[in-house]
Amino acid sequence: MFCRIFSAHVAGIDGVLIEVEVDTANVGLPSFSMVGLAETSVRESRDRVRSALKNMGFSIFNKPITINFAPADFRKEGTGFDLPVAIGLLKSSGHIDADTDKTLFIGELSLDGRLRPVSGVLSVTYAAREKGFENIILPAENVAEASLVSGINIGGAASLQDVLGWLMNEDGVVFKEETAVSPPAYREQMHDFRDVKGQFTARRAAEVAAAGMHNILMIGPPGSGKTMIARRLPGILPQLDMEEAIETLKIHSVAGLVKNMADISFERPFVSPHHTSSSVSIVGGTSKAKPGQVSIAHNGILFMDEFLEFNRSVLETLRQPMEDKEVTVARADRTVKYPASFMLVAACNPCPCGYYGDSKRECVCTPSQVQKYRARLSGPLLDRIDIHMEVNAVDLKELAGLEDGESSETMRERVINAHRAQKVRFSGEKILLNSQMGEKQIKKYCRLDGKSMKLLENACDKFGYSARAYSKILKVARTLADMENVQEILPKHVLEALHYRLLDRET
Ligand SMILES: Nc1ncnc2c1ncn2[C@@H]1O[C@H](COP(=O)(O)OP(=O)(O)OP(=O)(O)O)[C@@H](O)[C@H]1O
Ligand SMILES: [Mg+2]
Ligand SMILES: [Zn+2]
Repeated sequence: MFCRIFSAHVAGIDGVLIEVEVDTANVGLPSFSMVGLAETSVRESRDRVRSALKNMGFSIFNKPITINFAPADFRKEGTGFDLPVAIGLLKSSGHIDADTDKTLFIGELSLDGRLRPVSGVLSVTYAAREKGFENIILPAENVAEASLVSGINIGGAASLQDVLGWLMNEDGVVFKEETAVSPPAYREQMHDFRDVKGQFTARRAAEVAAAGMHNILMIGPPGSGKTMIARRLPGILPQLDMEEAIETLKIHSVAGLVKNMADISFERPFVSPHHTSSSVSIVGGTSKAKPGQVSIAHNGILFMDEFLEFNRSVLETLRQPMEDKEVTVARADRTVKYPASFMLVAACNPCPCGYYGDSKRECVCTPSQVQKYRARLSGPLLDRIDIHMEVNAVDLKELAGLEDGESSETMRERVINAHRAQKVRFSGEKILLNSQMGEKQIKKYCRLDGKSMKLLENACDKFGYSARAYSKILKVARTLADMENVQEILPKHVLEALHYRLLDRET
């Protein structure tokens, strides 16, 4: 008899539905073949399932049996197919007669029929829900991780025996009560903007960047507080929502950064690769097709300190993920896609010695050195940065006399409001934030009245802004209006946005 049991495995970070087809013929010599799995997985799974079923007293293997894992066009790995294979064998040989079409099964069997936990359960449960399954049955030890996903019945079983009990309407599987996991209250921030004294312009630019998730470049002398400000950006962004947190957790898990999958974090990732990092470590790769820093920073911040010290080729490789919000990582036998939607925060000195334009210390660079250094900043990558800001050092003596700055909590409230306005605006679009607008959306959502238009045109004439810079000014102006919860972009918004195009002005 033929039957089909549903299971799944993980490719990249996503769960992929697999149909386990089992056919037991009534006549013929005993055989047991499996097709569609990677070689070693086949051998091991076959042995485990055979032992487990024999030890439970079932005689099944006296007939020709074929098992196929569909779709057949790629090799599947992992140990999670033991459970669906065992159930398929019992069903196709007539030992059980249960409806299994609404349930997805996953789990590794030990030789005596106990279930062992498998990896990737979060992705699999997520996929099961997306595909409309009512139940997922998995090893008891995997329940906590799977429970992060709501909208599907999650049943944990200690053994194959327990699963069979459940299939025959008896006890055995323990279903997790649906508890709505809600993001916790905001945690006290380790890095609070309160510590950043003075620096009103830089603080404002940072807040604007956060409000629209605009990429930002900070230029300033050593010790002016660039790193300090960058470190505080995650704390003024809204926390991740459940879906975002799950997506981020999946990536971190594949990257080997998660000890316990049930420990979900709602904090925005803050990833700060060293300037000696290779392209592979930034965008992903290696023999295991691991996600890179750009994916680890997904939904959060990629901070590139000493931006100009990064290898040119590394900076070049950033262009594609910044454009597509995902990266394709190639491995010998397959390619994997990882999400990579991050806010780029870059920091650099204004010149090789660091003190060009500083009021206290003199720059010792020659004009041509400064020019050459600045030239490295130009180009396609700079085109993808919406906000340039200058950070001037605050005098140490002065610092002592300054009061604490505004807290991250207060700033975050405004940023959250702006994010909310964008979410409403883009509800029918494929984007969420102003920084993600394409040309069409800019035309639609960034209309200027006569006065603002005139202002922008004059500025463009005077400073020679490119069309790209023009779009960025509009996007940032949109965010500034959203921060005040007003529909129209006003002249003052355009004016402020113009201030954030420092580098375009100088060329
Ligand atoms: N506005 C400020 N308020 C309070 N402390 C400040 C401020 N600016 C700088 N500091 C102090 O100076 C230190 C150095 O700042 P930070 O490391 O952020 O500078 P930086 O701009 O990143 O310098 P570099 O170019 O060397 O990386 C901070 O850790 C902080 O103690
Ligand atoms: Mg620094
Ligand atoms: Zn200098």
